[in-house]
Amino acid sequence: MSILLTGGAGYIGSHTAIELLENNDLVVIDDFSNSKPEVLDAIKEITNKEVKFYEGDYSDKGFLEKVFNENEIDAVINFAGFKAVGESVKEPLKYYDNNIGGCIHLLEVMQKHNVKKFIFSSSATVYGKPDVVPITEESKVGGTTNPYGTTKLFIERILEDLYKSDNTWDICILRYFNPVGSHPSGLIGEDPNGIPNNLMPYIVRVAAGQLEQLTVFGNDYNTHDGTGVRDYIHVVDLAKGHVKALEKLNKEDSGLFIYNLGTGTGYSVLDMINAFEKATNKKVNYVIGPRREGDIDECYSDPTKANNELNWKAELTIEDMCRDSWNYIEKKNSK
Ligand code: UFG
Repeated sequence: MSILLTGGAGYIGSHTAIELLENNDLVVIDDFSNSKPEVLDAIKEITNKEVKFYEGDYSDKGFLEKVFNENEIDAVINFAGFKAVGESVKEPLKYYDNNIGGCIHLLEVMQKHNVKKFIFSSSATVYGKPDVVPITEESKVGGTTNPYGTTKLFIERILEDLYKSDNTWDICILRYFNPVGSHPSGLIGEDPNGIPNNLMPYIVRVAAGQLEQLTVFGNDYNTHDGTGVRDYIHVVDLAKGHVKALEKLNKEDSGLFIYNLGTGTGYSVLDMINAFEKATNKKVNYVIGPRREGDIDECYSDPTKANNELNWKAELTIEDMCRDSWNYIEKKNSK
């Protein structure tokens, strides 16, 4: 198959590219707004395979037309989109334009070229503050607490309407929980610009001495140790989930499917610090600070549906996630 990955040089896109390259041809587009060209070299080094690459903005219809005209695309996985929660609160229009507007342009060009297999990177954020955990795909969605989350929710609705209007589409919505870790080669991984917002990249920088200490955002949550609980999933497991989702779309006549991609286990912030210190022998200095606005007590998945219907299960452990996150940064810093 020939698959188009938008945002394919990004954190999740690049890991998925590696898994897909085993059996598929890839066309990757990226504008490097949150990724680097070196990632493409690393993908080649890891897989020994070439991807066809176009630099450009996935929301630019003229650019997309060129890509679709020059390639026989069978399916599209949309990783492109902005993802910084805090920035989305400050610049909502930028998020609605790029994430929702961009995705609509992509779907329009796909429709025009009669390419109707689509996998969308959604997020557990669509569940808002869950009433109960673990969260199943039938749990209530809505109540998102920031524009980033709302873009994911709206795009899901748009995809549902699109499928209702034309059921020859094959659509898979993947709701990611908290992706962490990196490819075991240490050649690609997560390295956000500026001060990280997310827990694991922050822990890694404290361990590397690049940041002084981690602030644990609140220890008065209704959890086993008072700190926030999340479902951290190794990015390689997450990437493999896309391969399985694609198999599902190829098997079925057509349909719109939604899956949680998580491990089903929740770890607190303090659990993560301990696991990281144990896996890497590095110290993570931290202080307890106030809660971060918009954060919730607990969010973890029930991944049964993906286990059963996709024949997919997250296999890597919390130690693997910590070790591989560290391995990537250590390798990078030693260059
Ligand atoms: N945390 C800290 N200190 C930090 C950063 C995070 O204590 O410096 C805590 C948070 O309070 C939370 C946990 O670590 O309890 C995880 O926080 P992250 O920012 O890593 O992840 P979130 O669960 O808040 O958000 C992530 C993604 C979003 C996505 C959301 C829901 O960043 O894109 O999961 O799936 F929307």
